[in-house]
Amino acid sequence: MSPRSILVTGGAGFIGSNFLHLLGEVRPDWRVVNLDALTYAGNLENLSRLEGRAGYAFVRGDITLESDVERAFQACAGPVSVLHFAAESHVDRSIQSGVPFVRTNVLGTQILLDASRARKVERFLHVSTDEVYGSLGASGSFSETTPLAPNSPYSASKAASDLLVRAAVHTHGFPGIVTRCSNNYGPYQFPEKLIPLMIANAGEDRELPVYGDGLNVRDWLYVRDHCEALLAVLERGKPGEVYNIGGDNEYPNLAIVKLILKELGKPESLIRFVKDRPGHDRRYAIDAHKIRAEIGWEPRFTFEAALPETIRWYRSNRAWLDRVRSGAYRDYYQRQYGAPGAVQAPLPPDR
Ligand code: NAD
Ligand code: DAU
Repeated sequence: MSPRSILVTGGAGFIGSNFLHLLGEVRPDWRVVNLDALTYAGNLENLSRLEGRAGYAFVRGDITLESDVERAFQACAGPVSVLHFAAESHVDRSIQSGVPFVRTNVLGTQILLDASRARKVERFLHVSTDEVYGSLGASGSFSETTPLAPNSPYSASKAASDLLVRAAVHTHGFPGIVTRCSNNYGPYQFPEKLIPLMIANAGEDRELPVYGDGLNVRDWLYVRDHCEALLAVLERGKPGEVYNIGGDNEYPNLAIVKLILKELGKPESLIRFVKDRPGHDRRYAIDAHKIRAEIGWEPRFTFEAALPETIRWYRSNRAWLDRVRSGAYRDYYQRQYGAPGAVQAPLPPDR
């Protein structure tokens, strides 16, 4: 099944904007509505290349408001599928306050599920995370049948949202699919996350804060690989299923930080070991056999090539990084579009 009309939530964030660029390249005939609240993590500048493009519309709206979700569905034409990225996504922020995480990730997902069911959507792909499985010891990996054991308010809210999708499938025969991916890196990532933060700080000769002993392990996947996996699942995945996504690419944080410093020609003396993240998960590793076997997806990018490429991207998009770090990116929407809530570039009715 290949959807021709798609409602994307959270398309102005890191992975969502990379996904919309992928769609623009490989499925240029699809009609796309992007529903995004433009929280601190949403940056329309990420999507400036898509502005004015026929078949693409942006709706500023909040998935926790039924009226906003309704407005977004009204902007869609014909049978529609939903690709749900919108979330509060940063673990450290969830440790400060879990409330926005429960609101958007749990309540927002349920509101979107209900509206999608009422609209009889063709597919609903819920973009989730390996963090719902909790933390691993030195060996082993997460499979789709690993019990959920989330450890942070962020991962607990994502696990709750996964279970709401599961409940909709079980109770209503809803065509929901859940994907759980490992850590992403690449262009347009908000510089609160490890890799862009370290690149940004090193570029300014500022200290690089490494939590604890720096030996926590993450399983890194280039964002383009994740986006290609999502498109493959959207087109060829089976409703009701869960698919893990990952590229067998584990690194301790300290090794990543040293690689970044080396690539930038900066000294390791910039590393500063700081107080550990409370409840810090020690290790994540994804077993992605199922998506490889059943969907035929494979990652295409190696870390050895894509990390330096990512570093080059942040260096050559210094102005983007500066506007995010200074907060100036927040004015972009107002400058380009005026009042919040407007539907931009409505889709032509005949497409
Ligand atoms: P992000 O924080 O960069 O972007 C989130 C987007 O959602 C932003 O554009 C924001 O404005 C929007 N948003 C937030 N609350 C909203 C609301 N109430 N209504 C409408 N829009 C809202 O996140 P990301 O890193 O791109 O992650 C996208 C999804 O992928 C999330 O669901 C996350 O859990 C999941 N995920 C992320 C990673 C990763 O490494 N970044 C890995 C696996 C899964
Ligand atoms: O595994 C998928 C998850 O990956 C996604 O679901 C989340 O949305 C995404 O934010 C990411 O979560 P992490 O907590 O793993 O990512 P983060 O970039 O915040 O941290 C990566 C590792 O680096 C983690 O072990 C904490 C550490 N770290 C992070 C920051 C920001 C540091 O040592 N110093 C830092 O300043």
